[in-house]
Amino acid sequence: MTNKKAQKSVDIAPAKNGGSGFYSDIVKEHFFHPKNFMEDDKAYKADGQGMVGSPACGDVMRVWIKVDKKSERVKDLKWKTFGCASAIAATSMMSVMVTEGEGMTLEEARKLRPQDITERLHGLPTRKIHCSVLGDKALRSAINDYYRKQGETDKIEIESGRIIDKVLKITDHDIEEAVLEGATNLEEVQSKTKVGTGDETCIPEVEQLIRFYREKFFGAE
Ligand code: FES
Repeated sequence: MTNKKAQKSVDIAPAKNGGSGFYSDIVKEHFFHPKNFMEDDKAYKADGQGMVGSPACGDVMRVWIKVDKKSERVKDLKWKTFGCASAIAATSMMSVMVTEGEGMTLEEARKLRPQDITERLHGLPTRKIHCSVLGDKALRSAINDYYRKQGETDKIEIESGRIIDKVLKITDHDIEEAVLEGATNLEEVQSKTKVGTGDETCIPEVEQLIRFYREKFFGAE
C-alpha cells in the first residue's frame, strides 16, 4: 500500500543515484533529516514497543508504535538507534512507508520486506544490508508487544530459529546473520558458523538457505 502524495514528499531525490558515491541522494536525505525520530520516549504513549540488537555490529534499534485499535492500522511510529547512517536512513524510510496514507495494517507492516525499503532508498551498499534490517525487526517486535498488551497472544509471531545443523545446533537464523554479514557461499558461511562441518547431511539445506537469504536481502541469483 503506497500513498503517492505522501511518497513524493519524502522521496525527494532524482530517480537515479547520480553516481555520487556509496549512498543515493534519498539515503543522504533520510540520514541528514531522519523522519519520525523519537525525541522523548518518556512522554510518548506507545501501544507497542520493540528493541533488537545487531549481532553483526552490536548496535541497537528501538521502535514505538501507536495503533488504531479498530482498524489495526499503524497511526504513528517513532524510532531511535545508535546505529550507522544506513540503519538511520533505512529505519527513517521504513517509518514513512508504514505510516504514509492511512497507515499500514499490522499484518501489512509485519510483511514489509527489507528489499522494499532498500528499493525506496534507491539501494544501499551491500555490506550495509545487515544495518537496514534492524528497523523492521524492531517493528515486528513492537507489533508482538502490541498484541501482547491487547491480550491477543494468538497473533504473536515468535521468530525462533529452526535447527539446521543438529551437531553444532546451528539455526537458520545463524545462517541468515552470516549472509547479512556478507557471506555469499557455503565456504564463507562455514568460516563464520562452522555449519555442516560436523553434520554434512545438512549442507544441501544450508546451500538452499544461502540462496534464499541472498535473494531475500540482496535480490541476488
Ligand atoms: S547498524 Fe551497526 S554498522 Fe550499521
